[in-house]
Amino acid sequence: MSGCAAPRVVMMVEALLPPLLLLLASLTGVFSLRTGQTYVRAGEMVALCCHHDCGDAKVIWTSSSSQERDLADMSSAEQTQMGLLVRGRSLVILSASVNHQGNYSCSPGNASSRFWFGLIVCTTQSRECEKRTQYPQQCHQQEACTLNCPTVNIPAASITNITSNGIIWNKEGEPKDGYFSSVEENDHGVYTCNRSYLYRTQVYHKTFAVVLEVKPNGATLVVDCKAVTYSDFDVLWFHGKSEVETNNSFPVFYNYTREVKGAEIKMTASLVFKKVSEEDLSKTYTCRLDAVSGPSSFVTITLAQKAHTSYVSLALAVGGVMVVMVLAVVIYVRFKINITIFLRDTLGCHSSISELGR
Ligand SMILES: *[C@@H]1O[C@H](CO)[C@@H](O)[C@H](O)[C@H]1NC(C)=O
Ligand SMILES: *[C@@H]1O[C@H](CO)[C@@H](O)[C@H](O)[C@H]1NC(C)=O
Ligand SMILES: *[C@@H]1O[C@H](CO)[C@@H](O)[C@H](O)[C@H]1NC(C)=O
Ligand SMILES: *[C@@H]1O[C@H](CO)[C@@H](O)[C@H](O)[C@H]1NC(C)=O
Ligand SMILES: *[C@@H]1O[C@H](CO)[C@@H](O)[C@H](O)[C@H]1NC(C)=O
Ligand SMILES: *[C@@H]1O[C@H](CO)[C@@H](O)[C@H](O)[C@H]1NC(C)=O
Repeated sequence: MSGCAAPRVVMMVEALLPPLLLLLASLTGVFSLRTGQTYVRAGEMVALCCHHDCGDAKVIWTSSSSQERDLADMSSAEQTQMGLLVRGRSLVILSASVNHQGNYSCSPGNASSRFWFGLIVCTTQSRECEKRTQYPQQCHQQEACTLNCPTVNIPAASITNITSNGIIWNKEGEPKDGYFSSVEENDHGVYTCNRSYLYRTQVYHKTFAVVLEVKPNGATLVVDCKAVTYSDFDVLWFHGKSEVETNNSFPVFYNYTREVKGAEIKMTASLVFKKVSEEDLSKTYTCRLDAVSGPSSFVTITLAQKAHTSYVSLALAVGGVMVVMVLAVVIYVRFKINITIFLRDTLGCHSSISELGR
């Protein structure tokens, strides 16, 4: 995950710095900004854009290995010989070798500012190189999942004569198509996407490792609150002080059924979590029975995540039984309340009954 956080921090710093540096520049005339390291695997293509802008405007590119020469001023043949290509604000190294490793700078127009890039060419897969060329992705179990091939340091589409030839995915050497109609837990792992580019009859590549994490899907959870009585009453679900929605287009709602059998009225209020999310866990819900006369009764539940999913149904069954027994003792005379909890799939939730009232 640190590989994910690091670029964000860099971007934030860069977003904050320019105004500050522009201020400095207006005082001193010239400023210089170092914008971190770019890692590339040996033999692969890498593109640098001058300060996030890959446009056509002319800038001066220099390389620490070319004695401050403007790379853009080199002839096409010279550029080819160095295995690079300068187009406006883009510098493209077609096939990186250790000779390309070093510092590059670009400065727009009148050289009042200069941006520095450090380029590191990975010849062997060191830990640092591996970390810097891996990108995390998350998908949810049993949902469609399209792997995203990163677009970091790839040549801008506007560069003429470099054409993108598509992407090939594989996992441990096995070809994959980068799309799952329903992703499963054992689909997790490291996928490689290989982008290819055609430039003057030669094909060049840029590969990325995408680390796919398959997260458990939020299961549908139904908590039934059942009450049987001999006078009219309502059974309602509350979250805090507000009643839960009865509109089934909400992610959490409840619906109810009412059955009349002789003198007995049986009511079931089903609290439905379409997809239990992490934020639903630890929230408390209350099933309240409002009788036309007499005090109301309620029972409160809290969802909690279980470490071991295979015990979920058991825990739920025990939880359900507990509620029935305790409630039966407390309000035996007036009502029989029965809470049963059904869990489809196995997210690993259980409910805990924390309060009981009359
Ligand atoms: C690139 O710049 C860094 C920091 O400014 C410096 O330590 C390093 O020696 C430079 N590398 C080359 C090859 O000039
Ligand atoms: C450099 O360019 C900036 C913006 O384009 C301009 O404001 C500044 O006057 C120029 N400086 C010189 C020395 O030409
Ligand atoms: C693109 O390729 C064509 C044909 O090879 C060539 O004439 C043209 O100069 C190239 N354009 C650039 C910007 O290099
Ligand atoms: C990318 O694909 C090309 C062509 O199939 C292959 O030569 C190259 O080794 C691949 N790169 C990686 C890192 O798999
Ligand atoms: C349920 O909620 C949706 C979306 O907020 C709304 O469009 C719809 O009209 C509501 N249905 C009822 C019966 O209130
Ligand atoms: C309540 O909603 C759930 C989920 O949409 C549905 O399966 C169930 O049949 C509904 N029950 C009633 C009584 O409408």
